[in-house]
Amino acid sequence: MNIDKIEDIAKRRGFFWRSSELYGGISGLYDYAHLGKLIKRKLENLWRAYFLGLDENFYEIETPYIVHANALKASGHVDSFVDPIAKCKKCGATERADHIIEDQLKESFEGSTAEELTEIIKKHNIRCPKCKGILESVGTLNMMFPIEIGANAETKAYLLPETAQGAYLNFPREFECLRKKMPIGLAIIGRAYRNEISPRNALIRMREFTQAELQIFFDPDKINEHPCFADVEDYKLRIFPVANREKKHIDEITCKELVKRLPKFYVYHMAMIQKFYLDILKIPRDKFRFKELSDEEKAFYNKYHWDIELEIDIGFKEVAGVHYRTDHDLKGHEKVSKQDMSVFVDDKKFVPHVLELSFGIDRNIYAMLVLFYEEEKERAVFRFPGSVSPYDAAVFPLVSKDELPEKACEIKKMLRSLGFTVFYDESGSIGRRYRRMDEIGVPASITVDHQTLKDSTVTLRDRDSMKQVRINIKDLCMNLRKFLDGEELSKLGKAV
Ligand code: ATP
Ligand code: GLY
Repeated sequence: MNIDKIEDIAKRRGFFWRSSELYGGISGLYDYAHLGKLIKRKLENLWRAYFLGLDENFYEIETPYIVHANALKASGHVDSFVDPIAKCKKCGATERADHIIEDQLKESFEGSTAEELTEIIKKHNIRCPKCKGILESVGTLNMMFPIEIGANAETKAYLLPETAQGAYLNFPREFECLRKKMPIGLAIIGRAYRNEISPRNALIRMREFTQAELQIFFDPDKINEHPCFADVEDYKLRIFPVANREKKHIDEITCKELVKRLPKFYVYHMAMIQKFYLDILKIPRDKFRFKELSDEEKAFYNKYHWDIELEIDIGFKEVAGVHYRTDHDLKGHEKVSKQDMSVFVDDKKFVPHVLELSFGIDRNIYAMLVLFYEEEKERAVFRFPGSVSPYDAAVFPLVSKDELPEKACEIKKMLRSLGFTVFYDESGSIGRRYRRMDEIGVPASITVDHQTLKDSTVTLRDRDSMKQVRINIKDLCMNLRKFLDGEELSKLGKAV
């Protein structure tokens, strides 16, 4: 499925569309429509429950999206958060230089310097993709949005380019409040703003997007240990190291093996991330990999940097990252703010190091829309797992008479009161109502029919197989929960 098709389906069914559309839209800005927002909320809640659950000392915080300019000077973003740009001498169009080259040579040039990109453009005679004009030498553009605050613009600030900085600025206070224990995890689910030169591919490259990031502050002397490592030592990770690039081969390697080249603390968290993708989000195993970034490609703050990539319509695409940021940020803030960022733990004074688990919520949603969409002979279906489907279930009266709607409403209310998200509809043919649920990816449809009034049973239809079973209403909640957790339909009731 290509990008235009996804955007078209997203618009028609109510997942997302361009923002400010009435006024022509602004590239890189999208609104989540009613279904998209339901999925987004579910994904954020799953992320919250899973990653905050990794340690008793992990917490969520919230910080403003506007941050003092000095904080971003200290973090290195003012000097280093730049993208290479190429401008056409003829039509004036400006695009990311590495992207123009990538599109033409079908190879990644991420991390190359402006000088290197200029050379490649000359060598391959790469021209403006819009008018074929000659391109100027490659320059750079800082991606942050500057802000001036107050009537006289007395405070200089930026919109946050990553949620991470909010956690670093809060670390000293949280360390005090959290009784001076290590490790500490501070998570933020919030917006990030980047003045992307060429926003494209819908939710993949936006100018305002949502990140879910967990900053784990730890003692660097303990980087080669994790109390739960034994739980994952035989677990196999799908990795794509730099050395495999040419042969395009993904290795499957146990955590025990991988710690020969990466620290245990890092590998443990890679395993937990892969489990999140495969076991909770149900991403097919062959569509998932960790990609190692080369020294040139790594973000300026990282010592170890592996991206999480999912294979979608445009090939493997980064949706998250595991970043060992060392003491880069806390030391930077210490230097500029002149405040001591060190802690005293285990009879030792040190500046904590940070392992960052960084996820782009929007890119993950886009990837799931691509990965779970299927067109069959007689229908189109989103095969979302129950964990991220917009609704857990639909409830329908077979017909809109004979007291069936009243009974169906009762069941809808019961399911909602127990925390299920439920869609209700009583208009149109039952077949058409099932198709609509397939099209928006609702895994279960529960139908109240005339038999319901006689024996208190309903039918439960499985979106994927389109098969149905009859279930007693008194077992419905338990069975629906089991079904959403992956139990086979035939084990839940009598086939219809
Ligand atoms: P890319 O190389 O594609 O520009 P990045 O390496 O700059 O991405 P990070 O800075 O590591 O991305 O950001 C962390 C996560 O935030 C990414 O893995 C991605 O999911 C998300 N993200 C980054 N930039 C964007 C964007 N412009 N639009 C949507 N999500 C983004
Ligand atoms: N916080 C990591 C990033 O946005 O790249």
